[in-house]
Amino acid sequence: MPSPSNALPIVVLLSGQGSNLQAIIDAAAQQALPIEIKAVISNRADAYGLVRAEQAGIATAVLDHKRFANRQQYDHTLRELIDDYQPGLVVLAGFMRILSDQFVEHYLGRMINIHPSLLPKHKGLHTHQRAIEAGDKEHGASVHFVTPALDSGPIILQESTEILGNDTAESLAERVHAIEHRIYPEAIRRFACGEIHFSANPEKA
Ligand code: GRF
Repeated sequence: MPSPSNALPIVVLLSGQGSNLQAIIDAAAQQALPIEIKAVISNRADAYGLVRAEQAGIATAVLDHKRFANRQQYDHTLRELIDDYQPGLVVLAGFMRILSDQFVEHYLGRMINIHPSLLPKHKGLHTHQRAIEAGDKEHGASVHFVTPALDSGPIILQESTEILGNDTAESLAERVHAIEHRIYPEAIRRFACGEIHFSANPEKA
């Protein structure tokens, strides 16, 4: 399907399943998003997200971090690869890499991430289990601009779900994933339509 002429070029980075990528592809196909996904890049050759991209006719690339001596070299090559596509937005969709400060600064204000918690709660990994163990009443997902401090950039969009008495990390993850699939395309739409901009002020985008 042709993209609208004013489509925002985006590049998606991922390492795994790519269900968020799929939600973005589907929203774009329904013309709900004025974007063109130029490429999907993974650090893992076995990421199923690459298959989803290929099925949608999107260019893919694999840049295996194990082939690089250090994070700086990897990030430098990744940046060159991304910039070949001249994206207006870089979308992290389950990209399981810590990014160097220089890399983040290069894309400041035009790189976003989705995180499975109600930030600033539960930064990092194993968020569903941690929310249950903390006795939280609610949990959810957040889309935020990426800044050098992990999972700490200005929040663009959040949605919550109640934590039920019989929830396990798995049952909670399932509901949070469904939230992610709604709010990530919506956050991208808002960015692409110029409704939100990065502000160096913490808390709100
Ligand atoms: C999601 O839970 C997202 O919040 C986190 O990584 C996971 C990616 O899932 N950053 P998928 O690969 O999009 O299914």
